[in-house]
Amino acid sequence: MSKKTAVFAPVSIGNVSVGFDSLGLALRPIDGQLLGDVVEVEAAQQNNFELTGDFADRLPTDRESNIVWLVLQAFEAELIVRQIPVVAVKVTLHKNIPVCSGMGSSACSVVAAFVALNDFYQQPFDDNQLLQLMGQAEAKISGSVHYDNVAPCFLGGMQLMLNNQEQVTLSLPLFKDIYWVLAYPDVEVSTQAARALLPAVYERSTLISFGQNLAGFVAACFQQDQALAFALLKDEIAEPYRAELLPDYAQTKQQLLKMNSLAVGISGSGPTIFSACEDLKTAQQQATWLEKNYLQTEHGFVAICQADATGTRAIDSVINTQELP
Ligand code: HSE
Repeated sequence: MSKKTAVFAPVSIGNVSVGFDSLGLALRPIDGQLLGDVVEVEAAQQNNFELTGDFADRLPTDRESNIVWLVLQAFEAELIVRQIPVVAVKVTLHKNIPVCSGMGSSACSVVAAFVALNDFYQQPFDDNQLLQLMGQAEAKISGSVHYDNVAPCFLGGMQLMLNNQEQVTLSLPLFKDIYWVLAYPDVEVSTQAARALLPAVYERSTLISFGQNLAGFVAACFQQDQALAFALLKDEIAEPYRAELLPDYAQTKQQLLKMNSLAVGISGSGPTIFSACEDLKTAQQQATWLEKNYLQTEHGFVAICQADATGTRAIDSVINTQELP
């Protein structure tokens, strides 16, 4: 057992427009700040939980309602199954990402908690086992098992989910020079509610173009054909039904495309949006425009990011993520 572990888990874009429930991308701000949650685990007299961080006040205070407390129960149950002795721990969640934001906030907490506990117990579970536990825990919040936030958050980069228990996800080659502008307006959109808006059944023509776009995008990633990849970054599954949940989404998207965005989409189930830009100057111009036009309260923020190839990692100490760009 380790004395104390501290783990950081980054934000991610679920769906990335073209891969509903199937594609996710981990991000890091270019200014070096850690945008994500941190979980610390240390030995204690009895199990206990502490909640802190910039967005802690948006979560219920009772520990039984917190996903990290549920992760602790799930992790201990798995230890018992494997006859590994369980010890009492204190778990601290630094909640730096707003809930219901579309940046994989609950995945950040779930992934950081599982990895911190796994580190504390000196790696009893491998990555695939952890991923499955993470997917099940996230489902408690969003209402269904989907890995498009937990997988990139955990493993980093762009991850394609496979419907395969032996290998849950496949890492795709990245377009490393792309800047991803994230804009969180500070309105709440619950994933469960956003999923409830979607049709239960889709037209055959929609399924065909979904398959064509996703397959073409994946091939373009492997061929590093940036123009083709971003031309195919379209969302016919969720965006048409969810756009109304976001502030002036259609006009915002149109404006960003006019400002040379390669692609604009809803991050996860929203309300955060993303815009992919080829150069930093374009990203900075868009960030300024979004700050003026898309944010709804002083807690909204815009971050210029690039792909985070690392994903979740151990850190030495808790880093202050209060100064969002
Ligand atoms: N794929 C999920 C959705 C991401 O769009 O509902 C949000 O958790």
